[in-house]
Amino acid sequence: MSQMLRLLLFYILFFLDKSSATTNCPTGTIAGTDATKCYKYYMAPTNFYDAETQCTLNAGHLVSSTNGFINSFIADMAKSIIPDTNAQIWLGGSYSSNWTWTDGQPFTYTHWAKGQPNMTNGCTAMQISSSYWYSQSCNLSLPYFCEIPASVPVAPTCNPFQNSTSIPCPTSKPIVVSPCESTWTFYNITNACYKVFHSQNWTTSESICVQNNAHLTSIHSLEENSFLVELASSGNTIDPNNWPYSEAWIGLIDLNGDGIFSWTDGTPLDYIKWGPPWPALPLSVHKYVGLIVDPVNSHPGYFQTWFNWDAPGVCRAYICKKLAKNF
Ligand SMILES: *[C@@H]1O[C@H](CO)[C@@H](O)[C@H](O)[C@H]1NC(C)=O
Ligand SMILES: *[C@@H]1O[C@H](CO)[C@@H](O)[C@H](O)[C@H]1NC(C)=O
Ligand SMILES: *[C@@H]1O[C@H](CO)[C@@H](O)[C@H](O)[C@H]1NC(C)=O
Ligand SMILES: *[C@@H]1O[C@H](CO)[C@@H](O)[C@H](O)[C@H]1NC(C)=O
Ligand SMILES: *[C@@H]1O[C@H](CO)[C@@H](O)[C@H](O)[C@H]1NC(C)=O
Ligand SMILES: *[C@@H]1O[C@H](CO)[C@@H](O)[C@H](O)[C@H]1NC(C)=O
Repeated sequence: MSQMLRLLLFYILFFLDKSSATTNCPTGTIAGTDATKCYKYYMAPTNFYDAETQCTLNAGHLVSSTNGFINSFIADMAKSIIPDTNAQIWLGGSYSSNWTWTDGQPFTYTHWAKGQPNMTNGCTAMQISSSYWYSQSCNLSLPYFCEIPASVPVAPTCNPFQNSTSIPCPTSKPIVVSPCESTWTFYNITNACYKVFHSQNWTTSESICVQNNAHLTSIHSLEENSFLVELASSGNTIDPNNWPYSEAWIGLIDLNGDGIFSWTDGTPLDYIKWGPPWPALPLSVHKYVGLIVDPVNSHPGYFQTWFNWDAPGVCRAYICKKLAKNF
């Protein structure tokens, strides 16, 4: 092949080949369908101004809804997390002489409910059941999502002369894809995707994970344990004395009540993190294991450790885990 032809081939391959780069959502955030955005949920009802301040502390803003697709995504994400579908959440829209988004996006798309907005100097709240918007006093306390930009790593360098089994060259505009489905959180240390759901007993938690092609999470290191504490406690109101409000179910179970615990995802039991008095007896009853994700005043020293409890026990949260997609 002549030098000229090689050079030509190089440019053709360089500009035409498809490639992908993975996004990095910060720990504890949810990947968006738009892979350049990550979302972090705050359950504690907060006024609009303090909510926006909290978001800027995360290098983000209150979530903006700039087209119908994003609007449905926000509503679906909220519905999957917030049990009360009558709930409203803050969006980042507010009015002074016109409506603006706190992240500076143009306020062109709107999804106001009938008769809305019916006040000036208000802020924008979304009813999660309908995805319609209502103008509300900015002093009202509502839960909210922050929208945080994903960091997009630089695509790797490539050799266009490698044959077809080698890594393809990046295009000038990489197609950004997440290794996890939207609303799942990627953790690069374990190459797995995680999602937090709420308010079920252990058995129902595991079956909902299975419906999502996942299992209740297994835990294999202190890093993964700490990551899950951060993920499952994210944004929730902590009631320091309310025991079930500090816990998340994980996939460990003593199936036969004989002291032999195993992970529902079939991975080996190679790490344990029981709190001081656990496991509680009798194991024939207290078969199910959870992780304490908030500091609990009435149980000092148990934060970030595991406990076991019985079948009817409903924890505030449960965490599903599945392998990330590989590229
Ligand atoms: C909307 O209001 C903001 C803040 O009051 C102002 O900076 C902006 O110029 C206004 N935009 C339009 C289109 O009037
Ligand atoms: C605005 O609409 C809401 C919801 O329909 C209603 O509860 C509220 O009273 C209305 N406020 C005004 C000032 O009309
Ligand atoms: C919001 O609260 C501030 C201070 O508490 C008060 O001055 C203001 O009038 C309130 N605004 C509304 C719309 O209720
Ligand atoms: C293509 O790459 C594979 C794997 O590296 C190698 O086995 C094969 O011989 C290469 N083919 C050519 C034509 O270079
Ligand atoms: C995981 O991501 C973090 C932050 O982006 C990075 O510092 C770390 O090196 C990554 N670890 C692995 C094993 O890829
Ligand atoms: C677990 O929850 C499901 C539905 O939420 C319920 O049907 C089932 O009876 C509960 N199991 C126990 C042992 O409480």
